[in-house]
Amino acid sequence: MNILKFDQESTWVEGIVTFWRDRLLHNPALKMCLPTGLTPNQAYAEMARCCKKGQLSFSKTSIYLLDEYGGLSATDPGKSFNMLKERLINHIDLPKDKFHFLNTEATKLDEECKGYETAIGGRFDLVLLGIGLNGHLGLNEPGSEIESGVRKVRLAPSSRESCQRYLKHNQLPEWGLTIGLKQLLAAKEVWLLANGGKKAEIIERTVRGEISNQLPASLLRNHPKCFLFVDGEAGSRL
Ligand code: GLP
Repeated sequence: MNILKFDQESTWVEGIVTFWRDRLLHNPALKMCLPTGLTPNQAYAEMARCCKKGQLSFSKTSIYLLDEYGGLSATDPGKSFNMLKERLINHIDLPKDKFHFLNTEATKLDEECKGYETAIGGRFDLVLLGIGLNGHLGLNEPGSEIESGVRKVRLAPSSRESCQRYLKHNQLPEWGLTIGLKQLLAAKEVWLLANGGKKAEIIERTVRGEISNQLPASLLRNHPKCFLFVDGEAGSRL
């Protein structure tokens, strides 16, 4: 795992955007898996700004949404689909049919998950990830199998609670659909993003603790090309 620690949040965002622009330049058809949550928002805003200015393009790329919460209405702003659309997709030149996502309303969720695996096909070129306070990646909670694929999962209590930040009501989701550790760990390149003091402890455990599926993010230490981007606060215990 390569650790990139930035003093300030602004340089952390700049670092992520600089790397991302470089990857798009070298592979305009980048196949990406992208997260929601609060962590990537500033980087998304900056990438959208650069795209509007014609400094980069997503026109040949494809984007797969990392995970989705079940039990929320389709228009709920807390749905990952709505979050990513509002923060990135609506502001970039990605062709409509190149934005892929999981439909939690599907009548046969097993088929939905299998279909998503088929749509993903081979390895991702680039996976961006946030980290949960319990070390989860996407909705791959502690204990998830390394070989787990796209599937329905039950949210851990701490993950349910942290959803509150995305919602305007208190009906917290109990389950979701997620891309599995198998697809995440198979990616050609993975970036783990963390900012703010609340993430300092889990980042320390991710980097210094045991490598185990009890802390899914620690598995990234065995990945051949993984970058951890932390700002000064999230990286304060490293
Ligand atoms: C959430 C999401 C993940 C996200 C992570 C961190 O549960 N399912 O996709 O990366 O937890 O969220 P945040 O960036 O808001 O701290």
